[in-house]
Amino acid sequence: MKQQPLSHWDISTSRLVLGCMGLGGEWNRDPYTEADVKKAEEAVEAALSIGISMFDHADIYRIGKAESVFGEVLKRNPGLREKIVIQSKCGIRFADGSGPGRFDFSKEHILASVDGSLQRLGIDTLDILLLHRPDPLMEPEVVAEAIQTLRESGKVRRFGVSNMNVSQIRFLQQASPEPFIVNQLEMSLAKLDWVDQTVHVNQKAGTSVHFGEGLMEFCQTEHIQIQSWGPLAKGLFSGQTPEDAPENVLATAKLVQELAAAKETTPEAIVLGWLMRHPALIQPVIGTANPGRIRACADAERQASLMTREEWYALYVSSRGVPMP
Ligand SMILES: NC(=O)c1ccc[n+]([C@@H]2O[C@H](COP(=O)([O-])OP(=O)(O)OC[C@H]3O[C@@H](n4cnc5c(N)ncnc54)[C@H](OP(=O)(O)O)[C@@H]3O)[C@@H](O)[C@H]2O)c1
Repeated sequence: MKQQPLSHWDISTSRLVLGCMGLGGEWNRDPYTEADVKKAEEAVEAALSIGISMFDHADIYRIGKAESVFGEVLKRNPGLREKIVIQSKCGIRFADGSGPGRFDFSKEHILASVDGSLQRLGIDTLDILLLHRPDPLMEPEVVAEAIQTLRESGKVRRFGVSNMNVSQIRFLQQASPEPFIVNQLEMSLAKLDWVDQTVHVNQKAGTSVHFGEGLMEFCQTEHIQIQSWGPLAKGLFSGQTPEDAPENVLATAKLVQELAAAKETTPEAIVLGWLMRHPALIQPVIGTANPGRIRACADAERQASLMTREEWYALYVSSRGVPMP
């Protein structure tokens, strides 16, 4: 079952992805500044320097400015576009004159969203487009039509989903010949539902798990690349541990530090290596825009390959705060 992420679908990428939600300045409609472009350029340079070749966007990040500053970075660095994989997302709409904050998988919105992303990024084709969050009003045939139009026009190469369970993926997939090749979900040492789901079948503790039933196994069987958002838990175990954090968080941060020291690596590499040790070959989408912190992730894949079963379980059990059933 071992494979490089997405290679099953002829897309060659690094195990780590740089999440670009932090690029582009504030979450407002003010124009981005030269400082925002510089920050984005430094983040991209740091990512490339550690071998990251995939970048994650969404139409909504910084109200479009994340894609706009990234487009500016591409313009200033000829040849960069051809070396990287660019993924974006559509389907979330902010509150506006027409309605409240909402999800929208209508054909019109999906097509318009992709046109906006391509224009802001200054590119002709998105490598991967994800449907960001399940829209209760989604109609598989309508989504399939949008996908077909985007595929035929050459505006999107491949498609995926985000924050979806098995039923939702199957529901959409039955109407579309284009396979969904990615599912992006919140998963980390702080957000353990993805492991608890496997562990707590047939147990009362399983009723409080917030992760789709069988989702890990389904995605692996169907060659759907699992990407984790929030993989660094905003630094909870690697420099941002509040003094008054719960006992399990304090203990886990200490364990992460000890393992990092023993293995002569960074806490970030341990936190990410723990995710990457799973046989699903999870692709963490790291959200830091700080070049030093990006570089601190460089050793993650190696740490995953070195992590023993006992170390993996020690981190999981420490973070869950209660022994295995
Ligand atoms: N599909 C979805 O629904 C969804 C939802 C959310 C995010 N995402 C994607 O996933 C990516 C990552 O998500 P995330 O930003 O929530 O996850 P993360 O990688 O766990 O956290 C990174 C964020 O935490 C901050 N941070 C502060 N101290 C830190 C430390 N010591 N170590 C690490 N980070 C620290 C970072 O700020 P600095 O930049 O200052 O380091 C950054 O804002 C996003 O960029 C986006 O591409 C997807």
